[in-house]
Amino acid sequence: MPSLTVKLQETTPTSYPILIKKGLLQDPKSWLPAEISLWVIITDTNVAEILALNLQKNLLKMGLKTLLLKVNPGERSKSQRNKSLLEQTMLQHDCDRKTGILALGGGVIGDLAGFIAATYMRGIAYIQLPTTLLAMVDSSVGGKTAINTKEGKNLIGAFWQPKAVIVDSSALETLPQKQLINGLFEALKMFLTHDSASFTWFHKNLTNILARNLQDLENLVYRALKIKTRVVAQDEKEQHERAVLNFGHTIGHALEKITNYRLLHGYAVGFGMLVEAKIALTLKLLTEQKFALIENALRPLGITSRKLAKFKAEEVIAATKFDKKKQSGQVFYVLLKDIGSVKEINGKYVHLVDDYTVNQVLLDLTKD
Ligand SMILES: NC(=O)c1ccc[n+]([C@@H]2O[C@H](COP(=O)([O-])OP(=O)(O)OC[C@H]3O[C@@H](n4cnc5c(N)ncnc54)[C@H](O)[C@@H]3O)[C@@H](O)[C@H]2O)c1
Repeated sequence: MPSLTVKLQETTPTSYPILIKKGLLQDPKSWLPAEISLWVIITDTNVAEILALNLQKNLLKMGLKTLLLKVNPGERSKSQRNKSLLEQTMLQHDCDRKTGILALGGGVIGDLAGFIAATYMRGIAYIQLPTTLLAMVDSSVGGKTAINTKEGKNLIGAFWQPKAVIVDSSALETLPQKQLINGLFEALKMFLTHDSASFTWFHKNLTNILARNLQDLENLVYRALKIKTRVVAQDEKEQHERAVLNFGHTIGHALEKITNYRLLHGYAVGFGMLVEAKIALTLKLLTEQKFALIENALRPLGITSRKLAKFKAEEVIAATKFDKKKQSGQVFYVLLKDIGSVKEINGKYVHLVDDYTVNQVLLDLTKD
């Protein structure tokens, strides 16, 4: 038989807006697409009390139908079980292809609700309404959605872009300080890998940021998302440059694994950036002076070599073998060559570093 070819039309370029402003959640008329009349709000029980009930009230006032679905707060909610339960409820409420999802919450809700949107009736519209700093500066943009299984984090998922990302900075007023700092590490990661001016700005304005000056927080989100949007637009499926956003994550994921995910993701990446910057110093890519600047930026956020000393070098190295960036037992890292730029060879942004070097770096950092 002759063979056949499926010739698909080029996917039309997709773009979506990101709005960053205080009070947006109070004013859904200003950002909600008019063509959808049933909105499923997916949130967690903490955010439901603080923000979701009010949002639902505002949608009802606009004459829209709503369905409010809640899961428990925390990483364990990003599960296959929750995904099925929520989908089942949506089916029972006659949600169809024209239904939209509002993902109101932190990265857990964004990843779970986004993945439901990706697969429900083969894909429906959703809007990211991030309420943690981590979700605002990172996870709400880029369309990576996923759930966890007992085999590991984010192993089942899809790339599915939202119709819009709505960042209401006033949501940060109720966020616990530890969660605020957790998000700062992901912003710092964007600056260290792409933008030295924003790194300097971050360092200068850290006191105001930690005191939750909303204007500074909006500026922080804007600076981080300016980088993320550019990277995602160039490499949506993480084949090339998007991998740079994994700076600090090889060691970070290892620390999350060792602590059974009790260490928050951002903090794990914070320690990861310290170690991976030191690897770059050891490989003579980064200068002593630049490494000291990075150490100084991490210290006020609670990331020090002294605290890193709780982790045994050999355990950290063993845990890196489970990283998604490993290939046949070899472990790869994003390496800084300066503040604001990374090593790149022929379009490759992750580089093999041997265990001996990583071990030396860990021992060196924690020797005092
Ligand atoms: N998709 C991506 O590109 C991407 C990128 C980075 C991280 N992630 C994922 O993000 C998840 C972590 O997200 P997270 O750190 O936002 O955690 P989270 O969603 O668990 O939120 C942290 C806590 O803050 C509470 N909370 C949320 N908003 C609040 C508010 N405004 N006021 C008070 N409390 C509030 C939540 O109820 C929760 O207890 C992880 O699952 C990670 O894998 C995804």
